[in-house]
Amino acid sequence: MAKRYAIVLAAGQGTRMKSKLYKVLHPVLGRPMVEHVINQVRESHIDEIITVVGHGADEVKEQIGDKTKFVIQAEQLGTGHACMQAEDLLKDKEGTTIVVCGDTPLITDDTYKALFEHHEKINAKATILTAEAENPSGYGRVIRNDQNEVERIVEHKDANEQDLLVNEINTGTYCFDNKALFQALKKVNNHNAQGEYYLPDVIEILRKNSEKVSAYMTPDFNETLGVNDRVALAQAEKIMKRRINETHMRNGVTIIDPDHVYIEPDVTIEQDVTIYPGSIISGKSKIKTNAEIGPYSEIIDCEVGEETSIKQSVARSSKIGDRVSIGPYAHIRLDAFIGNDTKVGNFVELKKAKIGDKSKVPHLSYIGDAEIGRNVNIGCGTITVNYDGKSKHLTTIEDDSFIGCNSNLIAPVTVGKGSYVAAGSTITKNVPEESLSIARARQTNKEGYAKRLKGSK
Ligand code: UD1
Ligand code: CA
Repeated sequence: MAKRYAIVLAAGQGTRMKSKLYKVLHPVLGRPMVEHVINQVRESHIDEIITVVGHGADEVKEQIGDKTKFVIQAEQLGTGHACMQAEDLLKDKEGTTIVVCGDTPLITDDTYKALFEHHEKINAKATILTAEAENPSGYGRVIRNDQNEVERIVEHKDANEQDLLVNEINTGTYCFDNKALFQALKKVNNHNAQGEYYLPDVIEILRKNSEKVSAYMTPDFNETLGVNDRVALAQAEKIMKRRINETHMRNGVTIIDPDHVYIEPDVTIEQDVTIYPGSIISGKSKIKTNAEIGPYSEIIDCEVGEETSIKQSVARSSKIGDRVSIGPYAHIRLDAFIGNDTKVGNFVELKKAKIGDKSKVPHLSYIGDAEIGRNVNIGCGTITVNYDGKSKHLTTIEDDSFIGCNSNLIAPVTVGKGSYVAAGSTITKNVPEESLSIARARQTNKEGYAKRLKGSK
């Protein structure tokens, strides 16, 4: 197979985004646009990928890491000029170079592959990926001659009335014979409405040299959406969301109202999971079979076990076991390990907490920096007092213990196996195994006292 190269254009500021964040770093379902592009294009077995960076070069490089090489376009003089920056690295190579824009996050690996195949099969010098747009406004138009052959691309701002009627748009993605690309780029000028060196002008230059130029039209315009402003960003998010949700549904996940469920691309979900409206599942979360997520839950980088239910709650970077009931309104903040057959009920906050199998924290508790054994019951309103203003301390509650309501456990402290803490206690010392600890003022009843008080008025 001929060698394959890729140039990713990602140097623009993205003025139309009106943002401090560089355009290609704006996320679509949690992942920067340019990363979507690179992840998809690299599936086509590319020998070398070069990303052209300029605005925000350091941030873009940091995001992409070692997935590609980088060249700098110090001044953004147009997409043709951007490609030229890869000249030193590529110009002598034999093979096919695909050029992709960092702001078309929805093009799939299948489409890139089909473009490569079409281009290589017909042995063209250039093949444009085009699409039929209902509203082509803003895109470059593909101008064909009487024989329906591609002649050139005209930018919206340079188009005459006739050109503007054309619905076939340039998606900004092309395959080129590598050497032909760099030879033609030398002839591109900036005599146009934007005073830029346009990459699409290469098409006309090749045509004038009687080289073979072709177009491969993808049937799905939605895929080729170029994100130039936040309206398009929202459209991209919507399309990506639907695509991901449909993939999960086809794999056996029930999504009630998929318009209102957001699942990021790296999430894995097993069969027979049900996801209710208003839920966001992100990062590298993994949801096991028969779990129920939502309504209105946010799960970030968590593993959620089988048959576990998480309602109206937020969970981050935690491992949640099987048959766990969480919420409504729980906050699993960070690094929690929640065992099997447990309950974390309403208005409970967990942080760096280990909850053993069959234990319950049913209501209104803060459990932070704590290790709770198996079969423990934590009464309503219990607080692990983990912070003394300087450092955090550990609370340990051993198996089969029972913590009465409204207890404060002043860490570091251990409640031994099988013990009881009486409701309303403030525990400052360790509780030995199998004991009852009461740490509250004794109640005194002064009979008749109320009557005396009232009578003295
Ligand atoms: C471009 C195409 C247009 C096509 C559309 C598809 C040109 C002249 N026009 O227009 O025909 O229909 O994409 O979405 O190519 N960039 C650089 N350096 C620069 C300029 C741009 O790296 O000097 C990068 C941008 O970061 C962006 C990409 O190239 O990722 C496209 O640039 P953009 O300004 O968005 O081009 P469009 O006007 O959308
Ligand atoms: Ca664009």
